[in-house]
Amino acid sequence: MTDDDRPSETEEPLTDVADETEGDWEWRRSESARLLSDGGTDAAGADDVALDPWGSSTVSDYRKLFEQFGIEEFDELLDGVPNPHYLMRRGVIFGHRDYRPVARAMRDDEPFAALSGFMPTGDPHIGHKLVFDEIIWHQQQGGDAYALIADLEAHSARGLTWDEIDEHARNYVLSLLALGFDPEDGTLYRQSDNREVQDLAFELGIEANFSELGSIYGFDGETDVSHMQSVVTQMADILYPQVADEPKPTVIPVGPDQDPHVRLSRDLAARVRYFGVTKAYASFEVASEAERDLLAAAWAALEDEVGAEEPVRCEDAADWIESEIEPDETRHSAVEKLRSAGKEPLRPRVRFLDRNATEEAFEALIEAVDGEKRVYDEHIDAFDMDRAEAEALSREVEVDHGGYGFLPPSSIYHRFMTGLTGGKMSSSIPASHISLLDDPEDGYDKVRSATTGGRETAEKQRELGGEADECPVYELYAYLLSGDDDEFAKEVYEECVGGERLCGGCKEQAAELMREFLDDHQEKREEWADKLDELDIDLDSDRKR
Ligand code: TRP
Ligand code: SF4
Repeated sequence: MTDDDRPSETEEPLTDVADETEGDWEWRRSESARLLSDGGTDAAGADDVALDPWGSSTVSDYRKLFEQFGIEEFDELLDGVPNPHYLMRRGVIFGHRDYRPVARAMRDDEPFAALSGFMPTGDPHIGHKLVFDEIIWHQQQGGDAYALIADLEAHSARGLTWDEIDEHARNYVLSLLALGFDPEDGTLYRQSDNREVQDLAFELGIEANFSELGSIYGFDGETDVSHMQSVVTQMADILYPQVADEPKPTVIPVGPDQDPHVRLSRDLAARVRYFGVTKAYASFEVASEAERDLLAAAWAALEDEVGAEEPVRCEDAADWIESEIEPDETRHSAVEKLRSAGKEPLRPRVRFLDRNATEEAFEALIEAVDGEKRVYDEHIDAFDMDRAEAEALSREVEVDHGGYGFLPPSSIYHRFMTGLTGGKMSSSIPASHISLLDDPEDGYDKVRSATTGGRETAEKQRELGGEADECPVYELYAYLLSGDDDEFAKEVYEECVGGERLCGGCKEQAAELMREFLDDHQEKREEWADKLDELDIDLDSDRKR
């Protein structure tokens, strides 16, 4: 991609509609606003948030994901994303973990990657299309794109035979290609065939033990070993773009049920690093972030008080903390350390921690740190460097000396689609979802018979308007049928809630669009089917069982 077709950072992604009425905002945000502002509207919401990768995925209250799991709201960084995808603009992608480095890389034309995986347990359906589109979009924005078939997981966690897996894998791959994935530029693989992934999984497995997997995933004594192996395999999948190439920001687009995997992968990525980088204020180690914050506050308060010649001493900081801060565990621990450091000057610095470095790597890092530095047994303090420089330097030295140098992987989370029959969209209820392999006429029929957010009578609908926010058919428009055309999605929404649109005609229009979409999609699948052999992915495994 050239700089010319990349939107500038200041460009407003939605200028054309954002300037209009408040109603536009309603249209784009109403659904997320509703879910975010009042989890209480959903009676089932109370304790319904469990993130279980192998459970049934419904999330009745997205707000809890922010509060309980620390997932961040996507809307907050939307402005920093160049040329955002319509799923981002419409709040379908509602959350993320640490997506900023990816957005930054996109803006600065730096390398980044996107990877997601698919368990080949059935036909790909319109829910999977969201993830296909997300991978493809990141590829089009200039990222390295990876899509993998999680066949080991399907075999171990779901018990599918290899024949079934092969057939489904082929269908996933065809739909991904038909939707625009560029296999020349991107990477497609299946877990069982990727030796590098298996090797990485083995290494990562050294850093995770059974109790940890047990507490994250609810594994117990009955859990089979291969299921556990499929977890470390997924960890390796997630980090694979950074070993196949160099360390780089990587986004994993998935449903929020996969968040436990993302969190574990972020932990493991840090555990295998040679070096960690933190901020520090004195030679001693703090016990917690809170304690570090306390030192930072003391430093900020005292820095101005003493003249440039006089250093702020640890004992002065102890005095300040005792007079300003309520006593608690953190205060106690900070004061104790500051007192025993006594006259040592308090000074901000970045600290390189030796986590798993080889001796040569540690020596090389000492050499590489510019400016004033102090070297200890297991860390190096640098006084003339900021944190970002330190991160980059430590990673460079690490990679040069045979380490991984991983950046913690990022994720984005999309909403689950509502089933066409109401309730959740489920692969096991054909009428609830539309398979990408459905006969276009069946797709048409399913939409025609879908549940709606309409009123009992046409008269009431004209009077009160429909409930687009509760309507699976509107969701089809917003998530798929409108494509990139925001004006069209907005029109449907406003006509619906304004009472100008009645469900019969609305469904007819949606059903026709669905038929067209499926027609077109399947035609493209056919075209790719003839070229599948040329691709670097083996869709006939010769495994037993
Ligand atoms: N566990 C995922 C699922 O259930 C599939 C998967 C395997 C995956 N490896 C991955 C998803 C890596 C994202 C990234 O669908
Ligand atoms: Fe849903 Fe359309 Fe009816 Fe509105 S008019 S409730 S969007 S089917």
